[in-house]
Amino acid sequence: MRKDIERVLFTEAQIAERVREMGARIGQDYAGKELLLVSVLKGSVVFLSDLMREIPLPVKIDFMAVSSYGKGHTTSGTVNILKDVGQSVEGKDVLIVEDILDSGVTLRYIMDLMEARNPASLRLCVLLDKPERRVVPVECHYTGFTAPDAFIVGYGLDYAERYRNLPYIGALYPFVYN
Ligand code: PRP
Repeated sequence: MRKDIERVLFTEAQIAERVREMGARIGQDYAGKELLLVSVLKGSVVFLSDLMREIPLPVKIDFMAVSSYGKGHTTSGTVNILKDVGQSVEGKDVLIVEDILDSGVTLRYIMDLMEARNPASLRLCVLLDKPERRVVPVECHYTGFTAPDAFIVGYGLDYAERYRNLPYIGALYPFVYN
């Protein structure tokens, strides 16, 4: 164990098993359709890359990037698009793929934006949910794990852009970020 990781929340094996289950479930739900997976940079890229290989359907992928609204001010709700998807989503079955649902500010904004573009269907898939942190309601159709209100890193999630490449999900010791 690294000296900066207080505890492992989800092991590499646990994540792999859950992602397999999620991919199979998505495959059943969208049987006969072609899915457009939209990943919100950067944290979700690890999850996306594993999840897309577990979905037994034709899938396309695209990416968005949004500005951080400042995590200390989660009620401000100001989210700006830095990079938009490179195609029209109108009439498509769109699944937004995210690493973590926290206050809900980012995903509320993205879901509203996408809905206004008239996709055939729109759902949300997150690996981690922190329900106790929610400030604005967001409906999530596929959730990997419920996470505690700790500073979580690994499997795409960062602290100051580090730790994204840890193969597991862990909680940082407070001394690292205080
Ligand atoms: C994370 C995550 C979501 C957002 C969720 O991104 O990927 O986009 O925070 O938080 P919210 O529910 O409070 O809006 P982050 O800003 O850490 O950027 P990153 O993906 O580039 O690490």
